[in-house]
Amino acid sequence: MAEELPAPDRLQDVEGPTLLGDDIMSGVKLVRHALAEHSLTHLRDRRTSVEGYRHHARIVSQIVAAEITKDLPLSQVTVETPLEATTAHVLAVPVILVPVLRAGLAMLFAMLDFLPGSQVGMLGLERDEATAIAHAYYEKQPSSYAGAKAVLLDPMLATGGSALAALERLKARGAEDIRIACIVSCPEGLTAVRTRHPDVLIYTCAIDRQLNAQAYILPGLGDFGDRYFGTL
Ligand code: PRP
Ligand code: URA
Repeated sequence: MAEELPAPDRLQDVEGPTLLGDDIMSGVKLVRHALAEHSLTHLRDRRTSVEGYRHHARIVSQIVAAEITKDLPLSQVTVETPLEATTAHVLAVPVILVPVLRAGLAMLFAMLDFLPGSQVGMLGLERDEATAIAHAYYEKQPSSYAGAKAVLLDPMLATGGSALAALERLKARGAEDIRIACIVSCPEGLTAVRTRHPDVLIYTCAIDRQLNAQAYILPGLGDFGDRYFGTL
């Protein structure tokens, strides 16, 4: 039987805060939940089938979705229950979801479970296999981000190049309040994004050790998009 460990000791990310300075970590939210950790283990496991991968990606994404929306501003309303009127709360600002194609789509539908009426902006970015530099191949965004919170969805934050390209595009469209939802990050990517965009909060389930020579995250989970879409 597996040894039972207290939550902080089970986390892959325990080294993160000690590796990264306060200026970086002050904008990084570690999403800690036993179910997220359980599903992340299945995502990491090389033997996980495409079906299992999609199942666990959805669970982790839902937990990130719940966490990243936890403190959204609310406004007070009056609602008539079947018995009487009462004061209650509804979301006060629109949330625009921006998946980075293609892997970000894996997080989109989990976010839409919670925010079914949200506008969605699409950004197609793909890393060159040799250089790991992301190039944009598609963009379709809402006409305005005024007054909205934008949530950039991308499960992997490796060099940070894709996130930086996406943030530039969002800010060029007027987005002022941006959060990034990811599943696995690493010190290199967190540092790149937080240094250039200290106003952007990053939510991540794990801060892994480092990048390898091909700019893949170690230990990581391999190529998220290929595993999720079955294109290995
Ligand atoms: C992956 C991932 C991120 C990016 C992260 O996408 O989904 O978008 O790499 O790496 P970076 O931080 O070094 O930019 P990829 O380019 O493999 O495209 P895909 O989603 O179409 O598989
Ligand atoms: N993109 C992935 O899918 N995995 C990595 O480890 C790095 C970039």
